[in-house]
Amino acid sequence: MPQPKSTQVNKPFLADFLWGAATAAQQVEGGLDNDWSAWETSVSKELASGAKARLKGVVPDWDAIKEEAEDTNNYVSRKSADHYNRYEEDFDLLKSIGCNSYRFSIEWSRIEPKRGEYDSKALDHYEAMVDALIERSIKPMITLHHFTNPTWLEEYGGWHGENIVDIFTNFSEVVARRLANKVDYWCTINEPGSYLLQRYLGGGAWPEWPKIEMNPVRGYSYIKNVVKTHKESRRVIKNTNPGAKVGIAHGLIDFQLGRLDPVSWLFKKQLEFIPDKYILNRVKHDMDFIGVNYYMRMLVKASFSHPANWALKNTGQDILNDMGWGIYPDGIYNVTQKLNRYNLPLIVTENGIPDALDTKRAKFISDHIEALFRSHKDGADIRGYFYWSLLDNYEWSEGFWPKFGLASVDRRTMERTLKPSAQEYSKLIKEYS
Ligand code: FCB
Repeated sequence: MPQPKSTQVNKPFLADFLWGAATAAQQVEGGLDNDWSAWETSVSKELASGAKARLKGVVPDWDAIKEEAEDTNNYVSRKSADHYNRYEEDFDLLKSIGCNSYRFSIEWSRIEPKRGEYDSKALDHYEAMVDALIERSIKPMITLHHFTNPTWLEEYGGWHGENIVDIFTNFSEVVARRLANKVDYWCTINEPGSYLLQRYLGGGAWPEWPKIEMNPVRGYSYIKNVVKTHKESRRVIKNTNPGAKVGIAHGLIDFQLGRLDPVSWLFKKQLEFIPDKYILNRVKHDMDFIGVNYYMRMLVKASFSHPANWALKNTGQDILNDMGWGIYPDGIYNVTQKLNRYNLPLIVTENGIPDALDTKRAKFISDHIEALFRSHKDGADIRGYFYWSLLDNYEWSEGFWPKFGLASVDRRTMERTLKPSAQEYSKLIKEYS
């Protein structure tokens, strides 16, 4: 990566700016056997029957999503978008809209179906994916951990146990030995803050998650393990490819005060403090870039309700996406500006909108890129933008009803169709390049 930073002011993004789209294995591949897929069938009924109580009044148009949200099948990923078999077709879509990069995750449970046994066919598959990208002049960005684990991990102590650093480093090494000479961009771990909140701090961001518990002690072990694991993973990737750029993809919310009172102020500080001090600060010398996943701002307003309700996803006046989150492009400016103090390149590893009618997506992307560009001009060292997601897919415990994709997927025929907003994204790529 070239170094200049402040000298770029008033110039377009750098020439080798990454323009891409992102996915994660669980959400698009299909045919998985891991801790998440084992769990989703057990909760699908409950999620379907609780959908109305959970979503009516939260989403802007309950009637539009009702049918899917109340269907048990919505909550089981099964074949998902069948990306495992159709990746070439999907890469053609990427190419056709002018993307020069693609972020995807390697499914750990495919590579290491049993502890210590690595499947060379699964490695062949991911190598073929990487080759197919390179053939199309699309740079791969690999995520090693995007929420899911092999089912056996729990027996060895899970992410809070003592073995995870060695176990995950071994897995990273196996993948790196095969792929790092072909892949320059790596995210070791996706959104550790979300995993911490969901698994160890009683949940909150998603309606459900496997093995939710309220266990801050384990949560703290998890964070310590994330820091060590990231460093070790990065080391083994760099052993094969010293020039590789390795980071963590962070979920960053633009927290704002919803009311001026000391409790809200303190709560907001806590929300910002945890990911910043416990994770970023501890890995800042071991990152080649910070991955930024930005979706929303939150207004912090303390009240007599449960603290989980103190951070609001819209102001009441915002234009909402299909999940009821306020659309707030300035937030991407704010979070990237705040990261300036780390003095590291930034790559937006995720930014997207659930918008089934595709009436808001083009403006969403354009406004966020514009805000990002402003941030770049104001000194943030921005090196890439990955729209979430390439395809409509399985949105964790919400299932398939939220439609984030640049392309829709007919779940019966698996036919892909690029949406009009994908063409708008394509134009923006040309404009800003
Ligand atoms: C992010 C996740 C990604 C996707 C988007 C909508 O937090 O990393 O997998 O679910 O949210």
